[in-house]
Amino acid sequence: MEKKKVMIVLGSPRKKGNSSILAKQVAAGAKAGGALVETFYLHDMNIRPCTACDACRKKTKIDCVLDDDMQKLYPKLRSADAIVVASPIYWFTVSAQTKLFMDRWYALGSDEGYELAGKKFGIVLTYADADPFISGAVNALRTFQDALNFIGAKIVGMVYGSAWKAGEIRRNKELMAAALELGKKLAAEA
Ligand SMILES: Cc1cc2nc3c(=O)[nH]c(=O)nc-3n(C[C@H](O)[C@H](O)[C@H](O)COP(=O)(O)O)c2cc1C
Repeated sequence: MEKKKVMIVLGSPRKKGNSSILAKQVAAGAKAGGALVETFYLHDMNIRPCTACDACRKKTKIDCVLDDDMQKLYPKLRSADAIVVASPIYWFTVSAQTKLFMDRWYALGSDEGYELAGKKFGIVLTYADADPFISGAVNALRTFQDALNFIGAKIVGMVYGSAWKAGEIRRNKELMAAALELGKKLAAEA
């Protein structure tokens, strides 16, 4: 049987930051579940903002006229069985890196729907304030719920928790275990 493909996207500039650490746990769980995992670090990639030119809706051979690193990510998004988006909370929602990436999903849509329909998603969020309402994590959670519902994708699990300095999230053993479990679940359900 062909291995399931899990694509992990890191939306924090901190490679060893809290959301990246949790994402690594998800990756370990997915690998333990027999999946193939590929991780992308958005901060090092050239991803421009959507210009709303709507050329993507004319369904030419290319997904998007912007010739940047999304051209590498579109085929990965298409072929992935499961997609994990890991982001810190910046100003009460996802990081700018994450939002730029998400806006460009627009190119995978048409009158018939979105090519991401049916994909399984895992969401990872970290934030400083202990309260997910005060931190703004709820805004990001709602964004994923609404966006993925809109495109017809399924959220398999959301792992989110509070930490400030890079690495602090490791102390939250329960959350680290939940991230590992999410990876296993994604490998099993994808
Ligand atoms: C520019 C910036 C904005 C932030 N905004 C928030 C915020 O709105 N709410 C919050 O709880 N934490 C906020 N934080 C704290 C980070 O979310 C927190 O440190 C998180 O653990 C970072 O995750 P990372 O290590 O994966 O980058 C902010 C941090 C930075 C650098």
